[in-house]
Amino acid sequence: MAADSVVEIENMEESTVHVFKSSSELLEKLHQKWSSVEKLPYPAMYSSVYGGIILDPAMMVIPIDDHMVHRGHGVFDTAIILDGYLYELDGHLDRFLLSASRAKITSPFPKSTLSTILIQLTAASNCKKGTLRYWLSAGPGDFLLSPAGCPTSAFYAIVIAEEFSQCKEGVKVITSTIPMKVPLFATSKNVNYLPNVLTKLEAEEKGAFASIWVDDEGYVAEGPNVNVGFVTHENELIVPFFDKILSGCTVKRLLELAPKLVENGRLKSVKTANITVEEAKRAAEMMYIGSTLPVLPIIEWDGKAIGDVCTKHANASKKHDSMETYLIELVERLVSPKMKLLEKTFVEEPPSTAPISEHKASEIEDKEVAADK
Ligand SMILES: Cc1ncc(COP(=O)(O)O)c(C=O)c1O
Repeated sequence: MAADSVVEIENMEESTVHVFKSSSELLEKLHQKWSSVEKLPYPAMYSSVYGGIILDPAMMVIPIDDHMVHRGHGVFDTAIILDGYLYELDGHLDRFLLSASRAKITSPFPKSTLSTILIQLTAASNCKKGTLRYWLSAGPGDFLLSPAGCPTSAFYAIVIAEEFSQCKEGVKVITSTIPMKVPLFATSKNVNYLPNVLTKLEAEEKGAFASIWVDDEGYVAEGPNVNVGFVTHENELIVPFFDKILSGCTVKRLLELAPKLVENGRLKSVKTANITVEEAKRAAEMMYIGSTLPVLPIIEWDGKAIGDVCTKHANASKKHDSMETYLIELVERLVSPKMKLLEKTFVEEPPSTAPISEHKASEIEDKEVAADK
């Protein structure tokens, strides 16, 4: 509820707070709430506090004395589920554990166990499309600032059944006036996303889709939960350095794949670099890059058109006319071979996160990019 829509209670009787006499009474109330929901948005959750997978949404809770809840001492990550495959779980887990070590949180499990849990959770959820979100926290204990009273760190994960699809229409963005996080916090995915929430809200209030952070040296940084990329009029793909921003798994994958477009002559070069706002605003193409997008064209920044918008709109129905379209298609098609069928992994072999053979993936990449020539 928005802060300005709080209604004062006039009848004091209404303010009497009910005391639940038993856990079964409480559970009944929670079940009542969920029984009116047509499609359950969260098909499965894992909690190391429970030590297992929970299918009952009424029980998908975490302790209030968890250090992540009251002090923000936690990190998280998200991987997408598409056609029953988990995409790039391994890379997301590496970033997750790096974030945890920067937050001085020791995982209760090694990476292989985290991965096994996440695969089994996704398989148990039966979800074919959505997101898998997971958190490492200093754990439950007390309400003090130091986590010394939190004996065991905690791992939570949830599957969210979600619709997302590639949007080929461009969006408008603004430069954020909300200060960006300092590198120590921006380069790790910790749960302190207040600046990210406020910058998204600021954009929405100004009629834009989202915002762009610019660092104190005037270089383009990132969006609230996405990276940014540019294609210059010289056909160079440029992505900002990752020293002050989150190293996105999607943009890193794009950097692995885009050299294919250099090979077939679509791009001149691919690089990470500092890019000033002035240079960026002169780009031929600008895009957000992130997990569920994976590439979202940006057509206007602070009221100024990016690239030749008229041409872009005119070409919207024709494929291959814009570099963004190429990148979108490249990412879309090449996403699949790196994914892994959950059920298959789960049933036929001990769960592991190793991607299907890179050899096979690159064969498909070559074939599909070649078909574009
Ligand atoms: C601040 C920030 N930058 C960039 C990204 C994009 O990262 P990814 O491609 O791994 O989704 C995210 C998403 O998690 C983010 O929160």
